[in-house]
Amino acid sequence: MSNPFHASRAASAGASPLSFNLHLLAPALLAVALAAGACRPRDKEPPQAARALREFTGAYPLEARPNGTVRSFDIVAEPTEVELVDGQKLRVWAYNGQVPGPQLRIRLGETLRVRFTNRLPQETTIHWHGVRLPNAMDGVPHTTQRPVQPGETFVYEFTPKDAGTFWFHPHVRSSEQVERGLYGLLIVEDTAPPPYSRDVVWVVDDWLLDETGQVFPRFNTRHDLAHDGRWGNVLTVNGRTDTVLRVRPGERIRLRLLNSANGRVVMPDFSGLDAKLIAVDGLYLREPIDPAGFELAPGNRIDLDITFNQNLAAPLPIVDRFSARRPNVLAHITTEGEPVTPPAFASPARAHVPAWSEGLHVPEHHAFRLNARRGGPFGIEWTLDDKAFAGHSAHHEPALTLTSGRFYRLRFVNESARLHPLHLHGMFFRLLARDGTPVEEPFFRDTVLVHGNESVDIALVPTDAGSWMLHCHILEHAEAGMMTLIAVRAP
Ligand code: C2O
Ligand code: CU
Repeated sequence: MSNPFHASRAASAGASPLSFNLHLLAPALLAVALAAGACRPRDKEPPQAARALREFTGAYPLEARPNGTVRSFDIVAEPTEVELVDGQKLRVWAYNGQVPGPQLRIRLGETLRVRFTNRLPQETTIHWHGVRLPNAMDGVPHTTQRPVQPGETFVYEFTPKDAGTFWFHPHVRSSEQVERGLYGLLIVEDTAPPPYSRDVVWVVDDWLLDETGQVFPRFNTRHDLAHDGRWGNVLTVNGRTDTVLRVRPGERIRLRLLNSANGRVVMPDFSGLDAKLIAVDGLYLREPIDPAGFELAPGNRIDLDITFNQNLAAPLPIVDRFSARRPNVLAHITTEGEPVTPPAFASPARAHVPAWSEGLHVPEHHAFRLNARRGGPFGIEWTLDDKAFAGHSAHHEPALTLTSGRFYRLRFVNESARLHPLHLHGMFFRLLARDGTPVEEPFFRDTVLVHGNESVDIALVPTDAGSWMLHCHILEHAEAGMMTLIAVRAP
């Protein structure tokens, strides 16, 4: 395979020494980083784990640093009608009457306060995907909060620990609520944002519309469950099939992409442009890399740094090539207007991302087996270790209990032939290997696509105590059981 995100890559020459990265950190961050180094390795920890933990020091802050500014937003979820797919009237469920929902933008250090009102015919919650926040704000019904009933209001308030591209969506009947249009972006800007000419967001969604042009009203069908979830027949970027990004020659833009689809994976092709991948799932990379081959699975975000050095001869289609035989045009980019001088600044992708090259030598803490079987309310159940999650309202013992501040290697063994983009709430992890072959990704993730019959090794250091969900982000698989809880406790 030629895809660098699949095949093992040659050891990265860019694995910067720790000292180099540390001096780039702000002094305040450094203090936190040094504090992290103070947590002592336990006796029973193998030396590789102790070294991995030291290498993690300074990767991202352990605590939020609220600067006192509170940014307040009102969000209402309710059924409405929007002109979505090219002017056609579509009945949706929307946040503040728009799909995609509102874009919440704050700066790192600011506190987000969202007064959320539910005007849906069902209970719901808001989950803040990818955000390291206090467990009580994570939006998981019955685990971190009571579900918000129709007519009720709930206030979410937290200070994100990380800058980056995040998103929010319901965690109740997600395969229906997200598909009907409930999702929005939370962008946490750096304290001093890099001076891009423009900051552009593309939300990719995939809709299954029926012959009347409305959202196909049957969810969690046997077909969806037996396959990779609900794949639709209309692909939109920012709610349209005809999105065009018009830039001036010389502009340098930051393009943030989110895949908010229930099941569809996309692999956007930016070849022909001077495009660099600078962030994945919110966090900056160790160094900018070529985005070619990145599989943007449901839940994933990527940020690109694109400089338009020259005029494009014609509108450039950005094509999804996840299925080589069935490519899809996502949107177009054109250059027009007076040229500008490209803003010159160093790439913000210079985070301290541990290589964890010895990570695979640390004994695995647990191997999850991913599979399906007959049974359950939908006729097919998706399982983790032969257990199907019986819905949020049932009582669940955590599948694992981890201690914050320790290094863990986990493995996912896909015993099925289907795709499973696995997502872990409240923490980041690094992909170590696919099918036992080391993978050198210079970035953290919160969601990783596990292919059919593939095994995947990840490593992580939990930072926040609480009950955190681990689940497939193919929302039909999650609804049919592929979810579990991971408890993190303070040392
Ligand atoms: Cu975006 Cu529990 O998910
Ligand atoms: Cu799955």
